[in-house]
This record gives sequence, structure tokens and C-alpha cells, in this order.
Amino acid sequence: MGRGLNLFPGQTITGRTVDRMRSDQIRQGRLAGERSAGLEHFLASMDTDRWIVEADLLVDMAHLLGLRQQGIIDEGPARALMAALLDLHDHGLPAEAFDERFEDIHAGKEACLIDRVGEDIGGRLHMGRSRNDEVATCIRIRLKQEIIALAGSLLDLRTTLLDVAGMHTETVMPGFTHMQHAQPTTLAHYLLAYEQAFSRDTARLREAYARVDVSPLGSAAFASTGFPLDRDYTARLLGFSCPTANSMDAVAARDFALEVLGDIAICMTTASRLCEELVLWSTAFIGFVDLDDAYCSSSSIMPQKKNPDVAEIMRAKAGTATGALAAAITITKGLPMSYNRDLQELTGHLWRGVEAARESIPLLAGMIGTATFDLERMAAEAGRGFSTATELADVLVREHGLPFRTAHRIVGRAVRHGSLDLATLEAAAQEAAGISVVDLGVTDERISAVLDPRHAVSVRTIVGGPAPAAVAVQLEEQRRLLDNDATWTEETGAALSRAHEDLISESRRMIL
Ligand code: ARG
Repeated sequence: MGRGLNLFPGQTITGRTVDRMRSDQIRQGRLAGERSAGLEHFLASMDTDRWIVEADLLVDMAHLLGLRQQGIIDEGPARALMAALLDLHDHGLPAEAFDERFEDIHAGKEACLIDRVGEDIGGRLHMGRSRNDEVATCIRIRLKQEIIALAGSLLDLRTTLLDVAGMHTETVMPGFTHMQHAQPTTLAHYLLAYEQAFSRDTARLREAYARVDVSPLGSAAFASTGFPLDRDYTARLLGFSCPTANSMDAVAARDFALEVLGDIAICMTTASRLCEELVLWSTAFIGFVDLDDAYCSSSSIMPQKKNPDVAEIMRAKAGTATGALAAAITITKGLPMSYNRDLQELTGHLWRGVEAARESIPLLAGMIGTATFDLERMAAEAGRGFSTATELADVLVREHGLPFRTAHRIVGRAVRHGSLDLATLEAAAQEAAGISVVDLGVTDERISAVLDPRHAVSVRTIVGGPAPAAVAVQLEEQRRLLDNDATWTEETGAALSRAHEDLISESRRMIL
């Protein structure tokens, strides 16, 4: 391609928009020369860093309080710096801080501080710190908040599933294997199956939270620092359970992010399966559900269309989340110790996965909560496709003493002949097993009672089964788990917000 060929007019080298602020203070010592906007953009994480701006200011405040407590910074500069930090916290970072010449928000913010209070003061905040421990701390802070928010959305979704299930413990419908009518079940049993999966997703996130909840701050570039920082103190200020145990691991590790992405990919896969269900169920072929109009779109040409677009996009978001996991884990796999810049590219994938789940789960709750189920259609399909044949075979075993394999063959042969009435069953028994079911005492009345889908559901009373009594037990147990998760989410979220509020109050007190 010829030089000067301008294919992307928006990406030509732009005039400096932030000349007022010092140009990239980190390059000045060691490196020389101008860089093109394209190169700066390539290196920059500014868009991604928008996720961690608030966290970064908290990290600055905690670090500054720590420097002051340990007598590493004098009172005067400490107060001036804290005043500037609080101003940025209260009024937001100026647009210049996000200029890509600074590569990332950590450098942009430092330039902004130096611009405001001078280098003699602004240049002292980064003592004993590197962007490596800084960014890792920021990511963990934001990720903790996101885990709590996602757990909260999952609580709403699970509540909806349990509520709707509670209304449909007697709603008989077909269950499927291989997408073929298999055996009757109930809508409650069906929805509870999804709720179980979402409850495990919540459990996974809770477990991951504990591994995210450690503070890398004080690890500096990787080898920690000779400044006598109190890492327990800053960890506590930021609401972490403790500091990371090894400073090299602290800056190099992203398995906490991969773990959460894995949890999110799994959770979104469950969401996607439920969406697929809703897409299928809302077809004219199946017709089990009518989604609220709000969750549907129409066609620009076919005026009759009501399409389940939200469910479809959510199915695709599961792909986005899984893609984010695949990208992040692949980025990590070739990295030697300790920090490598590749890790910057990973962070965007983390937030993409988080965002996919964060926007999907509340919509899924709304979509289920507002859906109308066609109970007659479900009941009509419940017994189709010989879906009660298993129960008939079971009755031949339980009430007439046949080995299950023999009963299975007899009933299968009757289905091959197209009916499960007594005459067909008798012929099938003679043909496939050389016996008479009539002689065994099988009657027409018993057969028709056994073939009723409600009967098949009602006898499945064992643990985990679809009988209303068994489902009531599941509902109760799931509500108990839900309450426990709700308490955890509330308490953990409150403790985290309180820690951050306390940190800001402590920072304000410092400059009184
Ligand atoms: N923007 C960087 C990231 O997200 C921050 C750490 C930069 N560290 C460095 N050594 N260049 O990973």
C-alpha cells in the first residue's frame, strides 16, 4: 500500500489536543521521538480503562494514605495530592486524561495530577508502585463489584423461575430427549431444571469471588519495593480480604479473570439454552409460549411477524462470552513471568464477557416473568409420541412380574404396530416374547389409566422427580439456597461499598 494513501480518514495523525498537559511523562527519560496516532492507538487501553477509572482513584487514595501512614511522604505533599485526587473523584477525570498518547489511564491521570499540583507534589504518588500492581488491583476491585451485580441479577432470575414454577406444579407437558417426545413432566419441573443450573452458576461466582478478593497493591513491578509499605493496611482500605502472598504472582496472574470468564461463559450457556427453548416454544409448530411483545421484534416486509429477537441476541451473547474466555485464556497461555503487556489485551475480553452477562440476565428474568404459557397445548402434547410407553412397561414389571427388558420389547413392538391398546399389546407380547399379557391379568382399564400423562407424572415421586410433591421439595430447597445467596450478595456488596465509602471519608478527613 502506498504511503500517504488515506483509507481511514478518521485515523490520520491528529493534532495534539492536550498540549496543555505534559506529554507522556513516562517516555520522557528513556525514549525519544514522536509516535503516530495509529501507533498510540495500538498501544492504548483507554477505552477499556473506562471500566476501572473509579477503582483507580480508590487505589490512589489507599496508596497515598499508606505512604503517609508509613511516613514515606510528607504531610504537605500528601494533603495537596489527596485534595487533587478527591477533586478528580468528585468531578471526574478531564477528557485529556484519556488521550491515547498516555497509553493508559494510569499515566493519563498522573499527567493530570502533575498538571494540577506540579511535579514536586504530583510526581510523588507513584513511589513504591507500578502500573502493574495498580492495574491488577483496579481490575480486581471492579470485578468484585461486577460479580456482586451479576449474582444479584441471577437472584432475580432465579426468583422468577421459582415463582413461575410454583404456579405450574400441576401443568403437565412433554419432556424431550433428542428433541423427541420422551416422557411427560411438568412445567415446574422443567423450569426448576434451569433454576438449578443458575443456582450453581451463582455458587461458582461466589467461590470465584474469594479468589478475586486479594490485593496486589504493593507488589509494584513484580519484586515489591524497598519502601516500607503496609500492604495489609491498603488491602483493608480497599475492601480486600488480604494482600496477595507473592508479589510476582500478584502482577502476573490473571487466572482469577479466566475463572470468572469461565463462570460467565457457563452461565451464559445456560441462559442460551433457555433462550433456545423459548425460541422453539414460541414457534407455531410447538406453540407452548407467547413472549411479551416487548421482547419481540417484527419484520420490515412480513407484517404478521413476531420474532423472539431478544432470545436470539441473548443466545448470541453466550457466543460473545465464550469467545471472550477463549481469547483471554489463549492470550495468557504463552506468557512467562511476570507482567507482559499482552495482559492489557486480555482485560477488554474480561469486560466484554462481563457485559454480555450483565445485560442478558436481567432481560431473561423479564422475558420469563412476562411470558404466557399455553397450558392446553402443553397438555395436548404431553401424551403424544407414545410418551407414556415407559410407564406401561414399568407397570408390566411392577404389577405383572415381567423382566424390564421383556416388557420393554413388548411395548416397543406394540408401538411399532401403532397402538398401545390391549389387543395390540397382546399381539406384540405373543410375537416378541411368546407370552400373553391378558393371561397375566392386564386389562383395558388399567392400560388407559397408565397411559394418562398425569399418572406418569404422579408416580414419579422420588427425589428429583416431577410429581408435585417431589417438586415441592425441590422448590423449598432451592428457595433456601436462594435466600442464602441473597444474604451473601447483600452482605458482601454492602461490605464492599462500605469499605469504599470509608476509604473516601478517611481521605477527606486527611485534608481537613
Ligand atoms: N494498561 C496496562 C494494562 O492494562 C497497565 C499496566 C502497564 N504496565 C506496563 N508495564 N506497561 O495492563
